[in-house]
Amino acid sequence: MKYNFDEQIDRSNTNAVKYDFRDKVFGTKEVLPMWVADMDFKTPDVIVQAVQERAKHEIYGYTGRTDSFAQSVTSWVKQRHGWSIDSNWISFSPGVVPALAMAVLAFTQPGDKIIAQTPVYFPFFNTIADNGRQLVINPLRIVNERYEMDWDDLEKKIDSRTSMLFLCSPHNPTGRVWSKEELQRLGEICVKNDILIVADEIHSDLILKPNKHTPIASISEEIAQQTITTIAPSKTFNIAGLASSVLIIPNKKLQTKYENMLNNLHLGMGNLFGIIALEAAYSHGAAWLDQMLDYLTENVDYVANYLEEHLPMVKLIKPEGTYLLWLDFRELKLSNEELRKLMIEKGKLGFNDGIIFGKGGKGFQRMNVACPKSTVIEGMQRLHKALGDM
Ligand SMILES: Cc1ncc(COP(=O)(O)O)c(C=O)c1O
Repeated sequence: MKYNFDEQIDRSNTNAVKYDFRDKVFGTKEVLPMWVADMDFKTPDVIVQAVQERAKHEIYGYTGRTDSFAQSVTSWVKQRHGWSIDSNWISFSPGVVPALAMAVLAFTQPGDKIIAQTPVYFPFFNTIADNGRQLVINPLRIVNERYEMDWDDLEKKIDSRTSMLFLCSPHNPTGRVWSKEELQRLGEICVKNDILIVADEIHSDLILKPNKHTPIASISEEIAQQTITTIAPSKTFNIAGLASSVLIIPNKKLQTKYENMLNNLHLGMGNLFGIIALEAAYSHGAAWLDQMLDYLTENVDYVANYLEEHLPMVKLIKPEGTYLLWLDFRELKLSNEELRKLMIEKGKLGFNDGIIFGKGGKGFQRMNVACPKSTVIEGMQRLHKALGDM
């Protein structure tokens, strides 16, 4: 079956955060919404049908996760990433961010240091600081227009209070798909220093060719024993509203501790439609995903070519994964406020401000291109208008 990603779907008045909350975030409903990380594509038919079929039953009571739920996860991870996991390693969370917060509570003590590599998905900061832990920033470095980890800085910042590292892999917002060598080096540093790795791999299915995602826990037994991996079908298949994700925890002791936290917080039940959707996605979603990734690649190429040809003062950090483009406006030498105003007021563009992603985000904007090509074209035209006389 050939899917149509060109279709424009009206999402207004569905309580979609991306559309119906624009006035709260941007102060106007006029901006073209290319911000929050969900897609403007229809959820794959295989998921829609599974949810609709279940909805017909008309009783939506407490619902458990069966063996086939875990089976769908193990076979997906094997097929897409070549990682053989045991179904007993799988735990549940309503979302990846709640899983990060639960990991902080379960495995660290108040005052402990947790490392995050900025610029990075900003809820990382809250799950650390709001729970009374110290956020330690290990900023990424730009080398030849590509982000890299700063090993010297990382090793310097580790001390006896450092107990956890949040890895974003692939990385949002820089679009880096970390290589096996980088992940191995990071894993070995964490093993050596007894630092628990919490690997947020929510974007791991969104890989642009020819890049390849390596689950950090698949690299060695030692690293696996010290890693908690979170994945979800939410970004991959556009079902974030169904709030269902999973953790892969090969270390039994760690898994028991995590499960205790989940149960203490009474968050383990999950959502009936989320359970159905996750299983359908991982069992039958591959063909849709492959086509979507090809479409996404065209959108990325369009932006890259457009900027090069018409707006060379804006540099695109070439993405290796995710559908989130990291645009470098530093050449314009604008303050955060000036750049934000330029995008919203002159461009009528709803991007994410780079600065919200922490140190290293100043002068950048994040643009979501998981949308029909016509929206991407409109976005580039608006950007051109905003920057035309600069
Ligand atoms: C790196 C990363 N982690 C987690 C999330 C959100 O996860 P959830 O909605 O499952 O809490 C996002 C959403 O953009 C993300 O980019």
